[in-house]
Amino acid sequence: MKNSIAPYQLGFSATHQEGEFDGLPVQGTIPQWLRGSLIRTGPGTLEVGKQSYHHWFDGLAMLRKFSFENGKVSFANRFLESQAYQEAKAKGKISRGEFGTTARHSLWERLSDPLPRLTDNATVNITMQGDRVASVTESPFPIVFDPETLRTIEQFSYHDRVPGQITTAHPHYDFKEDALYSYLTNLVPTCSYSLYRMNLHSNQRELVGSIPVKRPAYMHTFAMTEHYIVLVEFPLLLNRLSLMLSGKPYIENYEWKPEQGTRFLVISKDEGKVVHAAKSEAFFGFHHVNAFEQEDEIVVDLIAYSNSSVIQSLYLETLLHHPMQAIGAGELRRYHVSLNQSIAEYEVLTSEPLELPRINYQRCNTHSYQFAYGVGNSRPGNFIDQLVKVDVQNKTTEIWRSLDCYPGEPVFVAAPNATLEDEGVVLSVVLNAQKENSFLLVLDAQSWRELARVQLSYHLTFDFHGQYFDPTASTQHLHR
Ligand code: CO
Repeated sequence: MKNSIAPYQLGFSATHQEGEFDGLPVQGTIPQWLRGSLIRTGPGTLEVGKQSYHHWFDGLAMLRKFSFENGKVSFANRFLESQAYQEAKAKGKISRGEFGTTARHSLWERLSDPLPRLTDNATVNITMQGDRVASVTESPFPIVFDPETLRTIEQFSYHDRVPGQITTAHPHYDFKEDALYSYLTNLVPTCSYSLYRMNLHSNQRELVGSIPVKRPAYMHTFAMTEHYIVLVEFPLLLNRLSLMLSGKPYIENYEWKPEQGTRFLVISKDEGKVVHAAKSEAFFGFHHVNAFEQEDEIVVDLIAYSNSSVIQSLYLETLLHHPMQAIGAGELRRYHVSLNQSIAEYEVLTSEPLELPRINYQRCNTHSYQFAYGVGNSRPGNFIDQLVKVDVQNKTTEIWRSLDCYPGEPVFVAAPNATLEDEGVVLSVVLNAQKENSFLLVLDAQSWRELARVQLSYHLTFDFHGQYFDPTASTQHLHR
């Protein structure tokens, strides 16, 4: 069968401009109360010189910012000047290995550099590190930047020695403790997951607990409830020897072992000990949605895939030339992890495929909640082509879709003094493939009606995650 070219291909090509623009054209009306900035990160290019990165997750990071004031919107975008970026620019070729791309091709390169240098190409998410704003990825090297100008400042340095080489770009915030929780995976035997907490005004991680593990799993996120951290260990397990010697890209050194099932490790935040472990049938996932305690069980909502083939499906070769095989979204499942049962069971919360999920985080994280927002897919072969609002209690959905448009992660922003969970707006950067540009979509989260489109004159490469910063908030929390 002849390969078809993906209709959304422009979203995987480089953003050619960097700049700052005031007073962007707005169709519709931006709420006057929206006064802050949406800052996002994702690849700005998937090529260096004549070389191409292989996977969507690999491209060199570009920051993007939409700022709102008095109904007006300004925009800025700028490459993140990580070491990986600077080396690539200087050499004109890919310098650091990424998730799905190796930089060590010959046997000589592998023998002379047996442990690949970790990339600092922070292309996945925006987080607070101490008091500073940083772009982050799954290596523990946050890149601090100036949220006003988007200029790169420096690599964030931790004043501690928590062991581990791999982390998650999705830390959790405990608003009661004013602290961030996250983990590092230590790939040096005996391997372990190092759970840590870090006060919001500190650069010192405190080790909460160390969980030994024979073969570390690839996990993109984790769940947190009021008293527990939940690591959902998918059976995509590291082959250490392969990582050192194979010369394969990072993620290809993990092996899918479905016979092992998926493991739910419930760890107390107080003592850092595993208080319960449960198993389910094998499945894979990137993103948790929310988790909370309910009587004697823990409810874990996440986006699931029956296996890890979604990773292969997000290589550019598949995305661009075999769009029917690309998987843009998974299944929203609710796992029930009972503290006195060894099997975790699930129910499906919606038949609509979902990814890049968000909630009203500040209000609902670690609590029972009603609404999740995400991207979705209306038909096979069209990647991510709709936004979905899910009422997880009533199992109903609302859809936003527009011809030839491809939306990104919907970020919920609560209205000031909101009483309802969904009182606010949802912001999403959308590619218009027909007009060959991107626009910022503003939806009323409650009615799911379109409030405004803010037009850019060029397109932005598809990105992953971002955060909204509210300058009027009493503390500079992320509305993660
Ligand atoms: Co993510």
